[in-house]
Amino acid sequence: VQAEKGGFDSFMLKEISEQPQSVRDTMGARIDSETKQIVMPELKMSNEQLSAYDRIYIVACGTSMHAGLVGKDVIEKLTRVPVEVAVASEFRYRDPIYTDNTLMIVISQSGETADTLAALREAKKSGVTVMAVTNVVGSSVSREADEVIFTWAGPEIAVASTKAYTSQVVALYLFALYFAQVKGTQTAEQVAEIVDHMLDLPEAISEILADSAKIRDFANSIKDVNSLFFIGRSLDYAASLEGSLKLKEISYIHSEAYAAGELKHGTLALIEEGVPVIALATQPDIYEKMVSNIVEVKARGARVLGFAVESDNELIKSVDEVIHIPATLPILTPVLTAIPLQLLAYHASVARGLDVDKPRNLAKSVTVE
Ligand code: G6P
Repeated sequence: VQAEKGGFDSFMLKEISEQPQSVRDTMGARIDSETKQIVMPELKMSNEQLSAYDRIYIVACGTSMHAGLVGKDVIEKLTRVPVEVAVASEFRYRDPIYTDNTLMIVISQSGETADTLAALREAKKSGVTVMAVTNVVGSSVSREADEVIFTWAGPEIAVASTKAYTSQVVALYLFALYFAQVKGTQTAEQVAEIVDHMLDLPEAISEILADSAKIRDFANSIKDVNSLFFIGRSLDYAASLEGSLKLKEISYIHSEAYAAGELKHGTLALIEEGVPVIALATQPDIYEKMVSNIVEVKARGARVLGFAVESDNELIKSVDEVIHIPATLPILTPVLTAIPLQLLAYHASVARGLDVDKPRNLAKSVTVE
């Protein structure tokens, strides 16, 4: 087992470190290096069929559902097609409204999650086309779905998902771009610009990995707290939900992710002297709103770790410490903010002396309901 960890003390740290490569592998041959357009030869459906979809359900569990939240935002931005994200255990028991032009996307690292598989089967029974985004070739989800986009992240052993998540997010970007190309909602130039920035992601991830002392120190400093909060808006909110889940899963520290604008409606009551708040402020369109929320929690004594883009020299004035994220397009930042958030969870777990790879009560794949 030690050898399989490739010199790392845990599978989780190994998998976190593999992300420059796993993200590159997800993009792989799906980007035409000359035209900077997306190719998806794995899709069996015709472009006419694809372009007719005008409504999407994304159904998944856990971390995969969080990848879906990022995917929703990006698909909607690039194509203006409405996307609803649902937790599989809820979706399978409701009476979903399907139209002739509804596409269902299920996301599952393992491809074996019972609720996700059941939701897939329900949709198929209703005649809905199901596309799977999965990491495991030959998995039940990959065999039963009509269409499959493999994430190619390589085997993920640690219970807490890391590289599978970033690859799911990248796979959803690729799909969103391809869908936009086919629908004609983005020009070739617009697609190429996003692709250019995507190609820089692996290098940006390496940069973050090489400079992680600050996040480790912060993780050590929270090891004895009872509770903390993550706040963000739009894509930063989706990223916060995943950051909070990661921390909970392996450090057992209670944490909650809040859409920053909702703080006033309840959670602000829990902010008192010294409570750590991790505030993601990478999205330019709602930056000022985020800063106001940060000021609100600071005024109640919170200790704030801010996440800002590289060029941001302002945020430090409103927070205690800042983690800078390499420059990229706002829609692509969730892939980058994921890395320090994973490292935060990892280091907090190590600092508390816990089993990073095998958290209590949790399984890698939940194959029973
Ligand atoms: C379990 C794992 C999570 C994972 C979730 C969904 O809870 O511990 O890491 O996100 O299942 O798994 P899937 O394989 O369907 O992505």
